This record gives sequence, structure tokens and C-alpha cells, in this order.
Amino acid sequence: MADENNTQIVIKDLWKVYGKDTKRVFQEDLRNKSKDEIQNETGCIVGMRDINLEINKGEFYILMGLSGSGKSTLIRALIRLVKTTKGSIVINGEEITKMSSEQMIQFRRKTFGMVFQSYGLLPHMTVLENAAYGLKIRGIGKEARYEKAREVLETVGLKGWEEYYPTSLSGGMQQRVGLARALANEPEILLMDEPFSGLDPLIRRQMQDELVELQSKLQKTIIFVTHDLHEALKLGDRIAILRNGEVVQVGTPEEIITNPADEYVQEFVQDASPAKVLTASSIMSDIPVVTYAWEGPKTALTLMRKAKKRMGYVVDKKRKFLGVITAKELKRLLEGEEKYKTIPSTSIELVASVHPDTLIEDLFNVAPQNPYPIPVVDENNRLLGRISSDTIFDSISSNGGNNE
Ligand SMILES: Nc1ncnc2c1ncn2[C@@H]1O[C@H](COP(=O)(O)OP(=O)(O)OP(=O)(O)O)[C@@H](O)[C@H]1O
Ligand SMILES: [Mg+2]
Repeated sequence: MADENNTQIVIKDLWKVYGKDTKRVFQEDLRNKSKDEIQNETGCIVGMRDINLEINKGEFYILMGLSGSGKSTLIRALIRLVKTTKGSIVINGEEITKMSSEQMIQFRRKTFGMVFQSYGLLPHMTVLENAAYGLKIRGIGKEARYEKAREVLETVGLKGWEEYYPTSLSGGMQQRVGLARALANEPEILLMDEPFSGLDPLIRRQMQDELVELQSKLQKTIIFVTHDLHEALKLGDRIAILRNGEVVQVGTPEEIITNPADEYVQEFVQDASPAKVLTASSIMSDIPVVTYAWEGPKTALTLMRKAKKRMGYVVDKKRKFLGVITAKELKRLLEGEEKYKTIPSTSIELVASVHPDTLIEDLFNVAPQNPYPIPVVDENNRLLGRISSDTIFDSISSNGGNNE
């Protein structure tokens, strides 16, 4: 996943200590102590401890962790709303901890869009003026900024609301205005700190869906803070889990669910529904009997019996999946009058197949139609593996399956 050319943000050995005389915390006797111990002994609060992360261009990156784990500190450090104590943050090749304030302001305006939990809208300004506000600060003329604001308001589904004031909008709509305002600047990187936490569950889900759709078009780098595991799993390409200011695990949703690094992560993911995250590739196994369409029925039957199986998966010369054939059918062919040199296509049963990235949730629709383990094929219909219905049920009843 970490592709050097694609890396946009590199965070190295980053610390934030809140309080007075923060240098003391780095003395040998203290720096390895727990956050609580450090606080008791020095009065300083460790907001971030030795964080190392790389975030790629276009990545939807989630920061998750309990309250006080340092999520906001980290996201704010990226735009230096929090001044870090130690370590380095390189964004687009530039070390931001060393920039002058003036450089930082320019860099922030040019590079970032921000959406926070409180919408931060200006009540005496219309929706249009709010959406155009960031552009106004950048000195963009009225006509140009209103044009852009109209465009982004349409993108977030608020066409027709331009002349209203924020107070006449619901929470979800106000948050859309916040998002429109961030997008109007055409930022490379969007920072979102619990943007949907204040919304009703239904509206929240809708906003998540829309953000997924929007991101598939925009392909921005998004750093998104949430407490909500399902939100994280739904939105994230990767998730970093923080505890007491430290990163305890970074991984794709699938990696986090299947291999939680410790009990803390385990606790986070225990309510997750693996069926919504795991894909067919994580539970498929090898095909026991591959039957080649150009084989004779006798060879095919011999191989099947050797493997103690009652059926085989039939492929052509390019390993394209044709269907399944049963031992019973092969026997029937052999006992018949006609002599077959190869397996006749009329003996091959067509069955539904799935792709490696099919969600386990969706396998439930396919499984009942298939009397045999479900074949998994690639985009060229080449046979990759198979999934038995037992495996499907195991994968959702245990801690996420994968324990073959
Ligand atoms: N201005 C501050 N002064 C002192 N300590 C602070 C300050 N801001 C944050 N902290 C401390 O730093 C730690 C991390 O806080 P932070 O706000 O980053 O957590 P968070 O993960 O965003 O939590 P939440 O989910 O509640 O928003 C906490 O222990 C917090 O008390
Ligand atoms: Mg926070």
C-alpha cells in the first residue's frame, strides 16, 4: 500500500505534549512512562506520542480511537492549529513544522479543506455566501466565487438553497454547506473531524453514502476522524487506531477486523459485522478437483475418485470457468452407448460464480442457489477458488473467519 511516489503525508516520531516545561517529558526517566504517570509526575499531558504514519494521495484515511486518544490533536497538527513538540510532518515534500506562520497560512489555504463537527457556518450569511467564504478570504472576486460556490452546492445536493440562511437548514444540510465551503477551495486534502457525529443516524448514513460517492469522483486525500466503527469500515481505505496518543494499529478495514493488534482494537471491532467488510478472497480455498474440458470422462472420473469428491469444476484451456460436472454424470456418460473423447458441454452444469472482492454479505444471496461450493472467478472468468457454505457461516460466527 505504501507506494513511495504516491505518499503525500509522512509523519515521523511526532509528539505533542500539552503543558509547561514539556522538555522534561523527554528525559530518560520519563519518556517511556505511561501517559497517566507522566501527567501525575509533571502535570504535562501527552496528546501524541511518537506517531509514525504515511498517508497516500487519494487515500480515505480514518483516525479512530476513544475520546482523548489524540485524534483531534493529530488532525490539527497537520495544519498547525496544534503546534507539535517534537518530530516531523512532511506534506507534498514540505516540512510544515519548520514553515514560518505566513508560509503556513498560504500552505493551509492552498492545500487543505476542513470540515468539523460543529458546522462553523456564519449565521448572518446566506448558504451561498457561506459556501463562498473561503474563496472570499483568498481574495477571489464576487462573481467567480459565487459561481464556484453554486457549483459545489450543487455537488453536495443543495441546489435551490443558495439564498437561505443556515438556521433554516437541518443539521445534515448545514454540514453539507460546511462540506461545500471546504470543497470550493479545491483542496488537495480534506480534513474531517467527526463531521457526522452530530447527525441523526439515518441522515448520518445518508451523508456517508454521499461522501463515498463524492470521493469516487473527487479522489481527494481525506483524513477523517470518527468514533464509529461502522463509519470507519464503510468509508476508510485504511484505518489508524489511536490509544493514549499512540498509534496501535494501521490497516485496511479487513486487516483490522481479521487481525486486531491487541485487546483494545479487539474491543473496538467486536461489534463489527464481518460480513460487511470481509470479501470472498479472504475465505476462499483451493479447488479440490479441476476438470479440464478436453479430458475424457474416464480420466475426469478417476481424478475425482482419487480426490474423494463427487464433483469437479470444469475449465477450458485458459482456465476459464465453464461450470461443474458430477461424478454421477460422468458415470452415466461412461455407461452409455456413445463414446466421448472429451466432456460434452451438455453434461456441464452452469452455476453462479462470484468475484474475489464480493462481500461475504452478498454471498448469502448466491449460496442458496448453489448446490455446490461457490466458485470464485477473476474478471476474465478464470477460476480462482471456491467457498463452501460452511465457510461462509463460520466466517461470520467466529472472530472474522480466516482460521482455516
Ligand atoms: N489544549 C489542550 N490542553 C491540554 N491538554 C489537551 C488540550 N487539547 C487536548 N488535550 C489532551 O490531549 C489528549 C488528546 O486529546 P484530543 O482532543 O486530541 O483527543 P480526541 O481523540 O480528539 O478525543 P475526542 O474523541 O473526545 O474528540 C487528551 O488527553 C486531552 O485531554
Ligand atoms: Mg476530538
